[in-house]
Amino acid sequence: ENEIKKGLPLLGKKVLVTAGPTYEAIDPVRFIGNHSSGKMGFALAETLYQLGADVTLIAGPTSLKSGDGIKRIDVTSAAEMLNACIAQFNGTDITVMSAAVADYTPVEVAQQKIKKKEDHFNIELKKTTDILATLGKQKSDGQLLVGFALETTDEENYAKEKLKKKNLDLIVLNSLNDKGAGFKSETNKITIFNKALEKTAFETKSKTEVAKDICAEILKLMNINNA
Ligand code: CTP
Ligand code: CA
Repeated sequence: ENEIKKGLPLLGKKVLVTAGPTYEAIDPVRFIGNHSSGKMGFALAETLYQLGADVTLIAGPTSLKSGDGIKRIDVTSAAEMLNACIAQFNGTDITVMSAAVADYTPVEVAQQKIKKKEDHFNIELKKTTDILATLGKQKSDGQLLVGFALETTDEENYAKEKLKKKNLDLIVLNSLNDKGAGFKSETNKITIFNKALEKTAFETKSKTEVAKDICAEILKLMNINNA
């Protein structure tokens, strides 16, 4: 009888996950992007789905495939990702923003391919809207918001600052200063801070294992026992 389980811990919970890079168009054939693979976010979406959640995955450009049960919205730019997130945020129980959103986007997109001329060439950029901070402002009681931080110096202090500034419940610090961790790799080394600035450090692990660790912290915060 012990085998008759209580059911999946996130059954009935609405979850939003962002993943991958954004591409900011310069002209019809060029863009500003980054090396994010999307693997971390896709692993999170899959793990949350396996825990029973109703998962919407907002994905930047990536060739990754998502599982059948996951609702997927493909976007290209930071502006498109912002709009998709705002449209989906209402009623979410958990939102995890793992996307590597461009911080700047070209002021103007050339309608034709830009031809090479002078030896030096500048593109004027403007700040994108911080999606995570926008959701942090909109957030109501009971909505959990989880962000990521990627730093190269003073990483723990910057991560804690982002947690506070963006009104997050958890922040996942992704450490680059470890062999085999980061954007292009199969593994990540993370440290998680909660609102009380309590720190939980993890070993370097596969992104699937990292996703499980992050989800375990989320369940803890929700007082869900997944034993
Ligand atoms: N983020 C976002 N929208 C942006 C930029 C970042 O939603 N326009 C989110 C990311 O998805 C991540 C978190 O903010 O969850 C932190 O991203 P990061 O690049 O580490 O921090 P920034 O606030 O952009 O600051 P900086 O890049 O200057 O360190
Ligand atoms: Ca950034």
